[in-house]
Amino acid sequence: MTEAKLEAWLDEKRAFAPSAAFVATANAKPSLYDEANADPVAWWRKQAERLTWEKEPTSTLEWDLPFAKWYGDGTLNASVNCVDRHVAAGNGDKVAYHWVADIEGESRTITYAQLLKMVCQTTNALVELGVKKGDRVAIYMPMIPEAVVAMLAIARLGAIHSVVFAGFSADALSSRILDSDCQYVITADGAFRRGAPSPLKPAVDEALQSCPNVKAVLVVRRTGGDVHWVEGRDHWWHEEVERQSESHTPEFFPAEQTLLIMYTSGTTAKPKGIFHTTGGYLTQCATTYHYIFDVKPSSDVLWTAADIGWITGHSYIVYGPLVNGVTQIMYEGLPDSGGRDRWWRIVEEFKATVLYTAPTTIRTLMKWGDELPKGRDLSSLRLLGTVGEPINPEAWMWYREHVGGNRCPIVDTWWQTETGSIMITPLPGITTTKPGAAMTPFPGISADVVDNEGNSVGNGEGGYLVITAPWPAMTRGIYGDPERFKATYWERFPGKYFAGDGAKRDEDGDLWLLGRIDDVMNISGHRLSTTEVEHALVGHPSVAEAAVVGASDDTTGQAIVAFVTLKLSAEDATKDQSGVIEELRQHVAKVISPIAKPRQIILTPDLPKTRSGKIMRRLLRDVAENRSLGDVTTLTDPTVVNMIAGLMQTENSSEE
Ligand code: WTA
Repeated sequence: MTEAKLEAWLDEKRAFAPSAAFVATANAKPSLYDEANADPVAWWRKQAERLTWEKEPTSTLEWDLPFAKWYGDGTLNASVNCVDRHVAAGNGDKVAYHWVADIEGESRTITYAQLLKMVCQTTNALVELGVKKGDRVAIYMPMIPEAVVAMLAIARLGAIHSVVFAGFSADALSSRILDSDCQYVITADGAFRRGAPSPLKPAVDEALQSCPNVKAVLVVRRTGGDVHWVEGRDHWWHEEVERQSESHTPEFFPAEQTLLIMYTSGTTAKPKGIFHTTGGYLTQCATTYHYIFDVKPSSDVLWTAADIGWITGHSYIVYGPLVNGVTQIMYEGLPDSGGRDRWWRIVEEFKATVLYTAPTTIRTLMKWGDELPKGRDLSSLRLLGTVGEPINPEAWMWYREHVGGNRCPIVDTWWQTETGSIMITPLPGITTTKPGAAMTPFPGISADVVDNEGNSVGNGEGGYLVITAPWPAMTRGIYGDPERFKATYWERFPGKYFAGDGAKRDEDGDLWLLGRIDDVMNISGHRLSTTEVEHALVGHPSVAEAAVVGASDDTTGQAIVAFVTLKLSAEDATKDQSGVIEELRQHVAKVISPIAKPRQIILTPDLPKTRSGKIMRRLLRDVAENRSLGDVTTLTDPTVVNMIAGLMQTENSSEE
């Protein structure tokens, strides 16, 4: 980032106070912070009353750092909390989801009563297939209602869902299935993308070649057409689910029963299976959703434009909203499926009141021009949210003016797969917001910015973001690897949770998140580790060595730049290597996902290394961002990096 850009980024002077109209009806009252922070544990105990417990917890927090138990002796069922109790309360006819297909004109309206029926039938089908409490079930599905139903049915049985983003490759799917030993997979024949079918089942078939423990695969027919079928293993959803009884009597489970596993990238090549338990996770999802999105269940139509393959979809399309009993929009397609004004047509048609999405999407919508949102009636919107990466003030301002009509508060919400729920955010009706700042820890959450030694920094200073007290939705660990959990998050600053993000406290003491400080990249809001991509590259037979960095990108936030040395015979070295680059990009897509394809691959005869043999990624990042090079004296051969910078320049000028 250039100095000028950084300054614009950190413009602390612009601020927007909440309007009197919003304040009058806001769920969050200013006393909230005082109440919560006076005794956070007691306050979180009170928030647990949002849930229906079979047995009310008598304990709130047991803290054996870094292992927490929240509401430990309570028992409940997640699925009952999301569905049954709303039907029992007489809200069965209320719409849970307005589901909008990728294809124009196709939609489904699903009420809470219908959702309950679907969940019960699916639960009964899973029981028939052999799923039991504690079993792991992988979900690899497009954004269709059955994906939500599958999650709730698994949870209803006390089994554990591990949703794998449907954009991941067969290899990525199989490694996740193996890591948590999933014995069941729920998928679809395919997905629709911009009106065209795109197959999913072949990736499952390929993945399962290396997963001998998988006993059954349940397949939703979404796109039609032929699919490869393994008799005895594969089952059609419409054959197995729709014939089942429409009722299912749930069991209740301890609050600390594992609800879900979500894989996310860390700093090593192996993704981490972050797991969450039931009581604390649901409590914080429900509480944050209520206050941050100012939810009015009787009138709101809320739209979290995310994928259920990521934590945002789990917490704010499934659990937070359903516990609150609200009406949502769930959209299957891409922002431009059926035209670049598709989103605005959806807002207009369903009178969306709240929209929650990622900065990368906002920047894309912004590029497509002001005319598109202007051409539609967006007056139903009353609140906007953003998540996933730092939002640049330009995008924030565009969102405010062109989508929010200068009237909607914006909540810039910071959180992670590991935190389970939102942690740092403005509260609408209370916070005076600043474009680009996530502002304040949520009530009951203690965050700090510390220096290298772990001491709090003063106002106007930057450092590392840490969370200093346990919170209900915190991950209970990395599946099967408690040591890695301790080492990754709790050892850098003993006793504090190390988030891996840089942050700054401005002159007023408000928080600005500045991006990852480790080897995790954030590409369009998707987390990927540099090592994961390097690992994929060196897995290709012609690659000798690879170094990957995240470089700034105007649309995707960061983009992947890879520096690769090839294993070349003297004869190969004289040949044109241009085909190799595309082959390597495709290789990464195959091993991880198309989202991991490097934007740029620079073939180089050597990589800059320290005398101890470590690749100097810092220098490569400078090269990738065209910055002047820092200290190169520790390198074995300082000329290497200048040579790479030269290669990069040649490459860039030939692209222009
Ligand atoms: C980044 C997504 C700045 C951050 C919910 C974090 C953000 C990572 C924000 C987690 C925000 C998320 N401002 N950065 N509002 N929200 N991040 O696990 O670097 O996919 O560590 O969870 O996204 O990504 P994850």
